[in-house]
Amino acid sequence: MIKKCLFPAAGYGTRFLPATKVIPKEMLPIVDKPLIQYGVEEAMEAGLNEMAIVTGRGKRALEDHFDINYELESQLRGTSKETLLAGISKIIEKCSFSYTRQTQMKGLGHAVLTGETLIGHEYPFAVILADDLCVCDSQGVLAQMVAVQEKYGCTVVAVEEVPQHDIHKYGVIAGEEIEPGVYRVSTMVEKPAAEVAPSNLAVIGRYIITPDIFDILRDVKPGAGGEIQLTDALMEQAKQGNVIAYKFRGRRFDCGSVGGFVAATNYFYHMGNR
Ligand code: G1P
Repeated sequence: MIKKCLFPAAGYGTRFLPATKVIPKEMLPIVDKPLIQYGVEEAMEAGLNEMAIVTGRGKRALEDHFDINYELESQLRGTSKETLLAGISKIIEKCSFSYTRQTQMKGLGHAVLTGETLIGHEYPFAVILADDLCVCDSQGVLAQMVAVQEKYGCTVVAVEEVPQHDIHKYGVIAGEEIEPGVYRVSTMVEKPAAEVAPSNLAVIGRYIITPDIFDILRDVKPGAGGEIQLTDALMEQAKQGNVIAYKFRGRRFDCGSVGGFVAATNYFYHMGNR
């Protein structure tokens, strides 16, 4: 019963300044769709329809995007341009959106804990970091993870192999491979130096987490970068054998970096045969 998806979206997007001075980075478009909408569509495809967004100051455009716009809709009604709003209209019709604000930037773990009020303790929930844009020909990454979560009943994180020189940017796991591409996690480290990293399997921004994480997060001390790290809380679950890492099928673009953003733009541009 995974119904809710949490989107931490309070960050400043400093790597894209000045574009993100007024516009939330999650609203930057890949071709003609804002980054966050790709994430919401992936969650919907996985059968989730309650979107919970952790925002911050200056992020109101996110709320307006997932709401109807009477003036625009009435202007376009009956014209050939009406279809341009079909995708977002369907999302608004099928999903609920709730928001809470993170008032201080204290890290991803803190952002997830801020979302507790929207998520509750009833069921496991998904987390999507919209910066990581994932594509797959067959089944979306989150949908793949829902199947893994249903099988193992615990927390699931998505991982991919990254080159040595990128390891220090990620949460990195080690564990026993229990079926091809599926690991029972024994260790998780946030942003290790390449020389001490437990493997080259990096966590990317897709998680399905059991709600006991919130109590763990309340006690987590600041870790890498002085921030409350989600990785450190997940490590507590892993100590109980309750974290699975899943090497997903598909491709991820790191849209938090300019290079990844441009690569995603090119990919979707060519997909659309423009
Ligand atoms: C966050 C997580 C990290 C993960 C990464 C995936 O880091 O803390 O464990 O590997 O997302 O994109 P950030 O990119 O916010 O520094």
